[in-house]
Amino acid sequence: MKSNTLLSLLSDRAVHSGESLAKTLGVSRTAVWKHIRRAIDEGLEIKTIRGKGYQLISPLDLLDRQRILSALPTTMEEQVDLVVLGEVDSTNAEVARRLAAARGRIPVILADRQTSGRGRRGRVWASPKGQNLYLSMGLALQGGFAALEGLSLVLGVAVARALESKGADAVGLKWPNDLFAGDQKFAGILVEIQGELQEGVVQVIAGIGINVHMTTADDVDQPWTSVSGRWSSLDWVRNDLAASVIAEVLAAVEVFGEQGFDVFRSSWQDRDIFIDRLLHSRDGELVGTGAGIDANGNYLLRTETGLVAVRAGDISLRAQP
Ligand code: BTN
Repeated sequence: MKSNTLLSLLSDRAVHSGESLAKTLGVSRTAVWKHIRRAIDEGLEIKTIRGKGYQLISPLDLLDRQRILSALPTTMEEQVDLVVLGEVDSTNAEVARRLAAARGRIPVILADRQTSGRGRRGRVWASPKGQNLYLSMGLALQGGFAALEGLSLVLGVAVARALESKGADAVGLKWPNDLFAGDQKFAGILVEIQGELQEGVVQVIAGIGINVHMTTADDVDQPWTSVSGRWSSLDWVRNDLAASVIAEVLAAVEVFGEQGFDVFRSSWQDRDIFIDRLLHSRDGELVGTGAGIDANGNYLLRTETGLVAVRAGDISLRAQP
C-alpha cells in the first residue's frame, strides 16, 4: 500500500475508522496503523480519535507529476524530463546523478521530502514531507563560466514572477537570490556548477526551495515564513506553483542566454529589499546603504568613499539591527 493512497482517503478530513480504511485498501488494520504512524513521524498531523478512527488535520497537497506536466505550456512539457520522488537526499544531488542520462531533455526533479536538503554556505535546508517545494533543474548555458554571471539573480526574478503570477504581492529579493516577504525569508536558491566546461557549455544545477505550507521548523536560524502563511487569502497548490516556477525559470534562462543579465537588472531592483537601507558586510568591514546592483549583478553599497561593488560569494549582506 502506498502512503499516498491512504492519505487520499483521509483527504476529505472526515474521521475514518481503521477498519473501514483497512477494508477499502485491502490490508490489515495493523498495516493501516503503521502507515498512519509513519505519516505522523514524517510531519503530518493526523488525529487518533479513540474508538472512532483517524482524522487528517494538516493541509494535504500531494505532488502529482501529470498535473505539473499538464500545467506547463506544451513546448515546455516536451522539453523537460520531470521526475517526482517521494523522498531523496537532495534534489540537487539527484539531478547531478541523472545528468548523464538526460538525453537532451532538461532534468527536473521534485521531491516531497529531502533527507539532506542543502542551503547556501553549507547550511541545512529544512525539508519536511508534504509541505513545501524542493525543486532542481539541470540547465546548460552557452558561453563558458563568464556566462554565469548574474544567473543566480535571474533565477530569483523567475521565482518571484512565478509567485506573482499566482497573486502574491510585494515579493522581495535579498541579494543575491533569497525571496522575502517583509523581513521574513520564504524561499532560497542554490546554484551549483556541475563538471567541466564542454565545448563552451557549462552545466548548472539550480535548486529552488519554497516554503509553501510549513508552519513549524526546527533549526532555522533566521526569521522565516511560508507562502500560505504570508498570502493566506490565496489558494496555494504545490503542483500549480511547481509548474509556474518551472515555466518562469525556463523562459528566463532562455532570455538570459540570448540577451544576458542587463535585461533583468530593473526587474531585480524593483524587488530589492536592501535598497536605501543601512547595511554592513558579513565581516563588518564595509558599511553603507543599499544602492541596487551593477550590470553584472554585484551588489552596490553607497559608502563614505563612494559606491563599492560587493561580489557574489564574497560577502553576505545583513541589514543592521
Ligand atoms: C538557501 O540557502 O537559501 C538555498 C536553499 C536551496 C534549497 C533547495 S531545496 C531544492 C534544492 N535541493 C537542495 O538540497 N537544495 C535546494
